[in-house]
Amino acid sequence: MKEKTEMLVKECSDYLNQCNDLNDLNRIKIKYLGKNGLITALLKNLRDLPSEQRPFAGKTVNDAREKIQTLLDEKEGELKKSESGILLEKEWIDVTLPGKNTTRGSLHPITKIIDEIISVFSGLGFEYKEGPEIETDYYCFQALNIPKDHPARDMQDTFYINENIVLRSHTSPVQVRNMEISKPPIRIVNPGRVYRADDDATHSPMFHQIEGLCIDEHISLGDLKGVLEEFAKNIFSKDTKIRFRPSYFPFTEPSVEVDVSCSICKGKGCKICKGTGWIEILGAGIVNPAVLEQSNIDSKKYSGFAFGCGIERIAMIKYGIDDMRILFDNDLRFLRQYK
Ligand code: PHE
Repeated sequence: MKEKTEMLVKECSDYLNQCNDLNDLNRIKIKYLGKNGLITALLKNLRDLPSEQRPFAGKTVNDAREKIQTLLDEKEGELKKSESGILLEKEWIDVTLPGKNTTRGSLHPITKIIDEIISVFSGLGFEYKEGPEIETDYYCFQALNIPKDHPARDMQDTFYINENIVLRSHTSPVQVRNMEISKPPIRIVNPGRVYRADDDATHSPMFHQIEGLCIDEHISLGDLKGVLEEFAKNIFSKDTKIRFRPSYFPFTEPSVEVDVSCSICKGKGCKICKGTGWIEILGAGIVNPAVLEQSNIDSKKYSGFAFGCGIERIAMIKYGIDDMRILFDNDLRFLRQYK
């Protein structure tokens, strides 16, 4: 028995010398000490020995089992140590290296200007509204006092989808849609895309407008001027002045073109303002009573003002851009300047 156990211990120790991972070690453990292992078999066989031999044989096998267990434990310790060493080596990182850069987008200058304008008007109590870009002829023109075949339709080079459906050429139809569903007082601003068959350095077939409408009792041109002054001072600079020039729109009466003092030359006259000291920024006026009546608003009791302006134009003035198309080219070198 003694030789046999010594041989097993030796054999196991030889195996362990060659073993270099924990899986192998486990296999060796099972081979000797597992349920059907070689040492376990010897222990089971003790029963068959004559009783006087049993104590000695039992001690011999148990000693061998303990030796093997010790060898296994030692090896396990060794392997674990070196495996965690390998792991540390493999997963080593230099925490002082600079991090990986992820590119971050930013808002388009047009979106930024829309947001700025909205925030000025919401401070003045105006609500944000939107409307469809594909519009009916009725909302885009007829309800705004521009009947079919009226010469004023020439002011806007409209894309007709069919006789009654158009790509909206201005944001004014949103006014009408809101007058139809709400009662005065009404105060709304509505930005959005509009479309006109026009394409050069200062015109694009798709551009953005923002329109404002205010209807209440006793609304006058004075209210319009006060509100637009506030808008111009916030969007351009605190010392910006505005002026009204008489104009014509079928949906407002009287109508005005609104100029702001040139923020580049402070009114002295420069290339941007073509030497006049003033830059035209929007159209506006007192809502034509015919338009109010058409949307079932009592024009004897209520009056209102409306204005509409091109956002690209505001962006060009504000940022000194001389070609509108650059706003739609999506050239990152241009866009990054407005981060
Ligand atoms: N809707 C007009 C346009 O696009 C602008 C405007 C709006 C003028 C409201 C007056 C009042 O030309």
